[in-house]
Amino acid sequence: MKQRIKNEGYCLGIESTADDFSVGIVSFNGEILANIISAYVPPEGGIHPREAARHHAEVADAVLKEAFEKAGIKPQDLMVVAFAQGPGLGPCLRTGATVARALASYLRVPLVGVNHCVAHIEIGKLKTGAKDPLTLYVSGGNTIVSAFNSGRYRVFGETLDIALGNCLDVFAREAGLRPKPGEPLGALVEKLAAKAKIFIPLPYTVKGMDLSFSGLLTAAVSLLKSGKYHVEDICYSLQETAFAMVTEVTERALAHTEKREVLLTGGVAANRRLQEMVECIAKEHEARFCAVPSAFAIDNGAMIAWTGTLAFNHGLTTPIEESYVKLRWRLEEVEVPWVGRMTQ
Ligand code: ATP
Ligand code: FE2
Repeated sequence: MKQRIKNEGYCLGIESTADDFSVGIVSFNGEILANIISAYVPPEGGIHPREAARHHAEVADAVLKEAFEKAGIKPQDLMVVAFAQGPGLGPCLRTGATVARALASYLRVPLVGVNHCVAHIEIGKLKTGAKDPLTLYVSGGNTIVSAFNSGRYRVFGETLDIALGNCLDVFAREAGLRPKPGEPLGALVEKLAAKAKIFIPLPYTVKGMDLSFSGLLTAAVSLLKSGKYHVEDICYSLQETAFAMVTEVTERALAHTEKREVLLTGGVAANRRLQEMVECIAKEHEARFCAVPSAFAIDNGAMIAWTGTLAFNHGLTTPIEESYVKLRWRLEEVEVPWVGRMTQ
């Protein structure tokens, strides 16, 4: 175990919005000392919130211990405890919040409730060096195009129904694809798509700046059930259509905001084809393309800890009595005083 200087001041962050329970420890200058992730894998089908929450409660102790060991610090070295306060699944969020409250009260350090979507953007900025990006955040639960303007991350476009990652996951389950342990379903769709021979037209739904994936999913599943097409060709057509939709909205937001950087984050950011498409529009607009490294694209405690340091440095803390979880906490409701006043 590495020995570190006592009272240097660290922030511990707890992430538990959905299927992962994760603890990250960071220093105030952005060094990530630990980022331990324990994923709940349902025996079959999608995530059941209460089952996932039970997993989080069971592993919390071991994940915390492992994070302290990895970081080489003691609980007494913490200056602040941050936790994902929302948005997310109620039982999962409450489990993480309970652990965070207990730890902060025991150590007598302040608590900071962090918005999960803000944290995805902040860790993306930290890991890629982006200063003021237009962000495409695509995961199992979110599909958001956003950029900073007048004190907040504004939402320029988002899904009206299911998220992009969820669309890929449900399709993969319907197709009976079996991932290896730890392999995301979306990555399996990506692998099969690479072997495709033909493109099959599917519904392309962009409404203004918003997106809809449910009709696309239904159409892709019915192609599957028709038995007339190879699964590889359907995976490819689904990916091309869905990615073209998010890329179109991202490009329009980029043209409107004139940002000089495009940041791709969230679990689906790991997809090479999506990276290629977003990089292409970034180049056309002479913006720098930044993709978050996959360890930090997925849900992780380090992003909560890092955002916790930014908020804490600006005097934002969350009293215990206000630390209730916010299941539908929207990105643009959050003040981010640590981001500069400039819009580009
Ligand atoms: P959030 O709470 O932010 O919505 P999440 O719980 O969905 O996040 P993430 O790890 O950010 O968790 O994203 C998981 C999603 O990313 C899944 O839908 C998964 O299939 C998808 N994904 C991961 N790798 C790839 C890939 N290579 N191609 C496409 N999708 C991928
Ligand atoms: Fe997430």
